[in-house]
Amino acid sequence: PTAAPDILSPEFAADPYSAYRVMRDDHPLIWHEPTQSYVISRYADVVRAFKDPLFTSRNYDWQLEPVHGRTILQMDGREHSTHRNLVAPAFRGRDLAEKFVPVIERNSAELIEAFAADGEVDLVAQYATRFPINVIVDMLGLPKSDHEHFHRWYTSIMGFLSNLSGDETVMADGIRTKGEFEDYMVPIIAARRENPGDDLLSTLCTAEIDGERMTDHEIKAFCSLLLTAGGETTDKAIASVMSNLVAHPDQLAAVRADHSLIPAAFAETLRHSPPVHMIMRQPAEDVELSGGTVEAGRTVTCLIGAANRDPEQYERPDEFDIARPDLDQGRAYTAGANHTAFALGRHFCVGALLARTELETAVAHLLDAMDDIAFADGAPPPEHGVFTRAPSQLRLTFTPTT
Ligand code: HEM
Repeated sequence: PTAAPDILSPEFAADPYSAYRVMRDDHPLIWHEPTQSYVISRYADVVRAFKDPLFTSRNYDWQLEPVHGRTILQMDGREHSTHRNLVAPAFRGRDLAEKFVPVIERNSAELIEAFAADGEVDLVAQYATRFPINVIVDMLGLPKSDHEHFHRWYTSIMGFLSNLSGDETVMADGIRTKGEFEDYMVPIIAARRENPGDDLLSTLCTAEIDGERMTDHEIKAFCSLLLTAGGETTDKAIASVMSNLVAHPDQLAAVRADHSLIPAAFAETLRHSPPVHMIMRQPAEDVELSGGTVEAGRTVTCLIGAANRDPEQYERPDEFDIARPDLDQGRAYTAGANHTAFALGRHFCVGALLARTELETAVAHLLDAMDDIAFADGAPPPEHGVFTRAPSQLRLTFTPTT
């Protein structure tokens, strides 16, 4: 029998997909001492952990509280459903289409204009890492002149959240950012309560269900969650979908010829190369999963990237194929999805439709601006990261279309 892979080892970081195979086949339940968690990898187990109400999200608190405060990610039960119902409508169809599609298109076009004539670009640095944050700042109705503040706050919070080695300077910086962000947001929230506009922040300030509203601190915490939950994920999705398409020229040509295939390319990217690879849950009672029992209160690390390539669920799971019949395209952006990239169940990504709209805009705009796209280094760039994962650079050459 093979040894159980270690999710914090360098070999795992270099090639998690080979490790996922070994885990699914021989070690579906691993106790991992350094993270004090059980690691699960089979599709059926990961879906169960997301959907079964027995599994809670309470153990996020120690990680998120110091930089965000209390957010819906840490909540369960009635507290979660109340807060989720207050914020979710702003991310649904009509609001998105009527209010925010122009914001998304404008921000994408501005970033592309800056490099469209160059014939080469690092799509991660020059587009993917900027676009989602700029969109969120704009949706909240905050001034463009504050984009740079938001990028700094975002980088600082992400540093804190991915600080595996416990570097104290990084920790202190993350905690200081929480204070700065609060000082910035609290007077703006007060002003929007007085004088609401048509923006997302005003919607959050005035949203009310059964007489309940969010407090200033809850609104502020949700806005800072939006930066990380909506920033890093969408940024990684853009890098991965473009890298996957350029690596498969026939599929790139098909998408270029028919933009209605873009959602399929994004859905298959979410399955094949998900932005988020690890999500934690905690069962309230002892529970049987493949490979044994997880005791009540233990943390379970759910491996999205492993579940999404389980051969029990998908034919040829390692192949990128935007036409695969076993991925339910129609529901790929809903809580009925049969991939696990947005989680499933109560915490299913609130921003899935926004992510889809951003991705559709990004791919359409990029293909319209760039012909003959190729990897500047002749080969697809390596992916980085184990909690979230994507190429950290995507250097492309292209023929400008204008
Ligand atoms: C939740 C992935 C884009 C906002 C989640 C979760 C995942 C996820 C896996 C579940 C986390 C958990 O249960 O622990 C993604 C991916 C995205 C994306 C892969 C892009 C491709 C966005 C965007 C926004 C957003 C654009 C908003 C601006 C949220 C929020 C939650 C969430 C607020 C918490 C929902 C809850 O706890 O009920 N997302 N996300 N996400 N996402 Fe996303």
